[in-house]
Amino acid sequence: MNHIELPFSPACERNKEIIFETLQKFLTSGVMLEIGHGTGQHAIYFSKKFPMIQWQPADVGEHNWMMEQRIKQEYPKIANLFNPIPIRVSKKKKLSEQCKGKFQNCYTANTLHIMSEEESSLFCEEIGDLLLHQGYLFIYGPFKFEGKFTSESNHQFDQSLKQRDPLSGIRNFEHIKSLLKKEGISFIENVNMPANNNFLIFQKD
Ligand SMILES: C[S@@+](CC[C@H](N)C(=O)[O-])C[C@H]1O[C@@H](n2cnc3c(N)ncnc32)[C@H](O)[C@@H]1O
Repeated sequence: MNHIELPFSPACERNKEIIFETLQKFLTSGVMLEIGHGTGQHAIYFSKKFPMIQWQPADVGEHNWMMEQRIKQEYPKIANLFNPIPIRVSKKKKLSEQCKGKFQNCYTANTLHIMSEEESSLFCEEIGDLLLHQGYLFIYGPFKFEGKFTSESNHQFDQSLKQRDPLSGIRNFEHIKSLLKKEGISFIENVNMPANNNFLIFQKD
């Protein structure tokens, strides 16, 4: 097998342990759907740390190769990390049409501010279709609260996101919370994370 130098996220290495500490308070069993696996570093780390959880990574189809390759290179013999599936939050196709199964829990990190406002709202409106009752939804990333950035650095980050893609941007916690509530997914907890990030935990009723 050819060894490929894979894209690498230093932020994932910095935040994985602190995210793990919160996840372990909630996870007991079942399949975790990760939307937006990116480089795949979190999927590898968390599936090793949670042998009782089956980890199903997903991302837009053109990014699945990073996860596939990372599994081959770093984690080939592990049964609880599944091959990635293509999922794109988009008005063209509902999440429930892209993925037939239902999952015990769902995790997504640093995705809602990359998606457009419309896509991040669609995510909130449709993710419940993929979650089992009592399933948790974990959302990691920077957020605005009551319309305000939590730091000047997040404000600057928001501007840099918009320079790259005018539709990207840091989302409002209250908007996410109210969209999810309409779908029967209740807010449980906000855990403050380093570097002005938040870990939002919701649960399907
Ligand atoms: C900044 S990366 C985060 C990757 C990884 N979760 C992390 O924390 O490093 C954002 C990810 O969101 C995914 N993404 C962006 N828009 C998406 C959409 N509409 N549907 C699904 N995934 C999307 C991208 O493909 C990318 O992998």
